[in-house]
Amino acid sequence: MQSWADNARRSGKRLAVVPTMGFLHDGHLSLLRLGRERADSLIMTLFVNPTQFGPNEDLSRYPRDEVGDIAKAAAIGTDIVFCPDPKDMYGPRHDTTVMVPTLSKPLCGVTRPGHFAGVATVVAKLFHLTWPHVAVFGEKDYQQLSVIRRMVRDLNFAVEIVSGPIVRESDGLALSSRNAYLNPEERQQATYLYRGLREARNVFKGGTRDAKTLVDAAADVIAAAPMATIEYLEIRDASDLSLVQSVTRPAILAVAVRIGQTRLIDNVLLD
Ligand code: PAF
Repeated sequence: MQSWADNARRSGKRLAVVPTMGFLHDGHLSLLRLGRERADSLIMTLFVNPTQFGPNEDLSRYPRDEVGDIAKAAAIGTDIVFCPDPKDMYGPRHDTTVMVPTLSKPLCGVTRPGHFAGVATVVAKLFHLTWPHVAVFGEKDYQQLSVIRRMVRDLNFAVEIVSGPIVRESDGLALSSRNAYLNPEERQQATYLYRGLREARNVFKGGTRDAKTLVDAAADVIAAAPMATIEYLEIRDASDLSLVQSVTRPAILAVAVRIGQTRLIDNVLLD
């Protein structure tokens, strides 16, 4: 992978990478299109990174479709799909971890304590392997995007980070590979996440700035989905993820819920 990237760079090409864990949906494809527009050569990485999963999480059952993913990536004009083996990514004496502790602590970090260290480490490795000028990530994983932007800044990676907007089903559910876990009833109840966020955003647009009032507006809607247990529903500053009492600067309203065995996240920008 490194020598392919080296050759491409030597021939003057601008490289984009879209890191993924595969099982591609239209959200991933929109990120690939963004990468395609911004570079001469497009790399997709396909790696279900074990170090970002906790011991009781869904690593073993994470949905996979390598052949289908490669076909979808090729149809968008991806030049190379990099699918490393976990044994090659993490050799027996692998001992280095990249941590972005402050941004990794709240929100998903509360129930997934090692998650963002796993993400930052693998993304740093993927950047060293694919040597991109630009890398594209989705805004659905807003905290992940914040962690990666901070890592890139702090460690002086010469990589431009581009984000792609959340892609939704027609009923508002944010696309996620994990939606495949939902049975029909859970799938129906999952629509309440975005309904709740949209309600809070409407209240915000109506002039309300008090964070608790906005969170309550979303929570009331999500409460209509009895199978959904809220893990967090918080308004955080869009740049440093600190808790916000009153939305006077751009902020995100972020939610994580469990529906049955499935954990879903979503967010909207309050700007
Ligand atoms: O967002 C994802 O799919 C993963 O967290 C990423 C960025 C590919 C790292 O494994």
